Amino acid sequence: MPEISQAAQSNPPHPLIPQPAHPIAFLRGFLERPKEVGSIIPSSRWMERRITRTAEIAKANLIIELGPGTGGTTKALLQAMGPDATLLAIEINPGFCELLTQTIRDPRLIVHEGSATDISEALAKHDLLYSHGAPDVVLSGIPFSTMPKELGLSILQSVKDSLAPGGRFVAYQFRDVVHTLGKQVFGPATIQLELLNMPPMRVYRWDMA
Ligand SMILES: C[S@@+](CC[C@H](N)C(=O)[O-])C[C@H]1O[C@@H](n2cnc3c(N)ncnc32)[C@H](O)[C@@H]1O
Repeated sequence: MPEISQAAQSNPPHPLIPQPAHPIAFLRGFLERPKEVGSIIPSSRWMERRITRTAEIAKANLIIELGPGTGGTTKALLQAMGPDATLLAIEINPGFCELLTQTIRDPRLIVHEGSATDISEALAKHDLLYSHGAPDVVLSGIPFSTMPKELGLSILQSVKDSLAPGGRFVAYQFRDVVHTLGKQVFGPATIQLELLNMPPMRVYRWDMA
């Protein structure tokens, strides 16, 4: 039907509808591992813009993304990054890792299958400390509210141990569990609210001394 395809071409997608970053694969991932994925749809484009701005991605040299999912946020980070920066995306779900590797071809991206509790091991495995020094940004979309408190604290400690002095940790979440736990590890965060996301999300930023 030509009318439909013309309309689709001339009307840009609504900002609250997630990027076409494989929403079906994302939903399938949620149905298979609901606690780990924590959401039925990926972040909106407004959310992607908010986190890249809040994390000051354009200034970063080595960025770690925890929980890239199907890659909408990953693509936004790559778009905002400098040409010589590197993005290490750490994802626990093997299916999402395979999708990311197959669909995003960018020499600045390294997809690492593993847990956010093991950031130092991931950095060592890919020789990144030697080539770049410690990361200046860690960005997390991992759902802290659906995991045991000890696991959440272990992830946050792994973030703290890996970040360079003067680096920043940005986490975007629907619930405030990450802030409650983060206060124990880093102290209080600065907080923003992104309304143009389903559901609206808080964005927390911690700056390392
Ligand atoms: C809500 S999704 C975020 C996806 C994407 N960043 C976005 O905003 O649309 C959370 C992601 O975190 C991943 N994840 C959960 N626990 C993890 C862990 N311990 N280590 C690494 N990734 C994890 C899930 O597999 C999922 O891809």
